[in-house]
Amino acid sequence: MHVKQFLIGAALFGISLSASNCTSSWANSLKSKLSSKTSIQCTGDNQRWSDYAAPVPGAIITIGEENDVAKVIAAASKANIPFLIQSGGNGWADTFTLDSNGIIIDMSNLKTITFNKNKTQVTFQAGATNKDVIDAAWDNNARVSASTCNCVSVLGATLGGGLSRTQGVYGLNIDNLLSLNVVDANGTKKTVTAKSNPELWWALTGAGANFGVVTSATYKSTPIPQANNTAWTGLLIFDESKLEDVITAIDELTLEPEMQMDIYFTANPATGLPAVLVLPFYLGSEEVGREKFASILDIGPLADGTEVIPYNTWNSAGDAFCTQGGRKPSYTTALKTMDPTAWRNVWDEYTAFFDQNSEANLTTILTECYSTAKTAKSVTGTGSSYPFRDIKCYAITIPWYTSPSLDSEALQFGQNIRSYLADTAGTSSPSSYINFAHGDEPLSQIYGSSLSKLQKLKLKYDPQKRLNQWFPLS
Ligand SMILES: *[C@@H]1O[C@H](CO)[C@@H](O)[C@H](O)[C@H]1NC(C)=O
Ligand SMILES: *[C@@H]1O[C@H](CO)[C@@H](O)[C@H](O)[C@H]1NC(C)=O
Ligand SMILES: *[C@@H]1O[C@H](CO)[C@@H](O)[C@H](O)[C@H]1NC(C)=O
Ligand SMILES: *[C@@H]1O[C@H](CO)[C@@H](O)[C@H](O)[C@H]1NC(C)=O
Ligand SMILES: *[C@@H]1O[C@H](CO)[C@@H](O)[C@H](O)[C@H]1NC(C)=O
Repeated sequence: MHVKQFLIGAALFGISLSASNCTSSWANSLKSKLSSKTSIQCTGDNQRWSDYAAPVPGAIITIGEENDVAKVIAAASKANIPFLIQSGGNGWADTFTLDSNGIIIDMSNLKTITFNKNKTQVTFQAGATNKDVIDAAWDNNARVSASTCNCVSVLGATLGGGLSRTQGVYGLNIDNLLSLNVVDANGTKKTVTAKSNPELWWALTGAGANFGVVTSATYKSTPIPQANNTAWTGLLIFDESKLEDVITAIDELTLEPEMQMDIYFTANPATGLPAVLVLPFYLGSEEVGREKFASILDIGPLADGTEVIPYNTWNSAGDAFCTQGGRKPSYTTALKTMDPTAWRNVWDEYTAFFDQNSEANLTTILTECYSTAKTAKSVTGTGSSYPFRDIKCYAITIPWYTSPSLDSEALQFGQNIRSYLADTAGTSSPSSYINFAHGDEPLSQIYGSSLSKLQKLKLKYDPQKRLNQWFPLS
């Protein structure tokens, strides 16, 4: 009757689970209610960004039509079958509890994207990635403020807040949302706006995964001709002896609305050896960009790959991070200040891990720094539950390897770096952006000052705790 039973059924047929379709009465009766574009598959194979602590479901339902999401959730809730929504499959936290009793509802085929006539609004479905939306905007002579990794689903990132290179001008992704098409935990569909349901809107914009399944959204867009839709960016490579100078310059640099930057510790693509890479971003000309980032450029990079490039290539420098598979148990720290002594410790820890584990040579410390010029101002109306609008930099330690035998060392490595940075973060208490967090943090570190209100709302909007795979509030 339930998922367990169709798994047993599949096993009895003696065929590889990944190649067989589910044959239980639950799956069969569900299948007859769904469009022919939606498929149900028993699985052993669910490709995600990180294999570490990845959910291993009993079945994957790949949605072909948006309307089917509500039907699947209604049926799953009725039969008490746990479910997890997956779009890009990039979520790396270890909070998933889904096992073979549960299902993954795979949204990745829902990619419809439509602009209104004057290109001031875009509506897209849950499977649209940053790349999908950016490419569509480019083709429409428009700019949508999406996030920095091409493979991540826009809504996946947005429901946790949604950082963006251009957030200094346009605000966080949640600040660009106009309306959400939501399915609740019982499978009832509703359209939610800040006006129609301010309380639920507040909860969805920062803690979305706990409050509803968003199947599509309408978002702000800015019409702008392709020829004007450009920015100055590119990699600067520094010798590690300049590390303290670079960190101090970042700490002292106020990121104006048009500015954003990343700093990486990663293998230099040219030499394969650990290097300090900086990726400045300026929404404007090269001339002004160089002025704004002069304090970093003046330190003297070994190589300067910056240039003015079009909007549809801004994320390209990060494409290597999108590679799926491998084990990547990641850790994060939200930073208001960048301390050179702490970062020297981080560098030493990073190079030691890199040198001792040749299979972990893609291991990266990625730190993204954003202008808070617009985000720190409270947004109009009811606001949102995202608690860290005044954070400048988000450090993420990404150990990257394949052997589970390296897990304990990798976890220790990530925790050591998190503790070096936490001591000098400049925040009143340790803070972790939900989309970057590991899963072992106290909830107050994830939800900040929004926690107690979110926990109250959870009792109202998901009393049966069905939406409980991503940093569950209850
Ligand atoms: C599984 O279902 C899909 C979609 O309904 C179908 O195309 C495929 O042939 C099925 N595979 C098997 C092994 O029955
Ligand atoms: C664009 O069209 C929308 C309706 O789709 C309208 O509300 C808005 O005022 C228009 N904006 C401009 C700048 O023309
Ligand atoms: C595009 O850029 C050109 C040249 O800098 C400028 O003259 C024009 O006003 C810009 N157009 C828009 C719509 O921003
Ligand atoms: C990492 O090691 C593999 C296997 O030795 C090698 O093929 C690859 O080029 C290395 N990658 C980097 C970034 O050095
Ligand atoms: C789902 O249905 C149950 C039983 O009727 C009800 O107690 C619960 O509040 C409903 N949940 C939502 C999110 O409406």
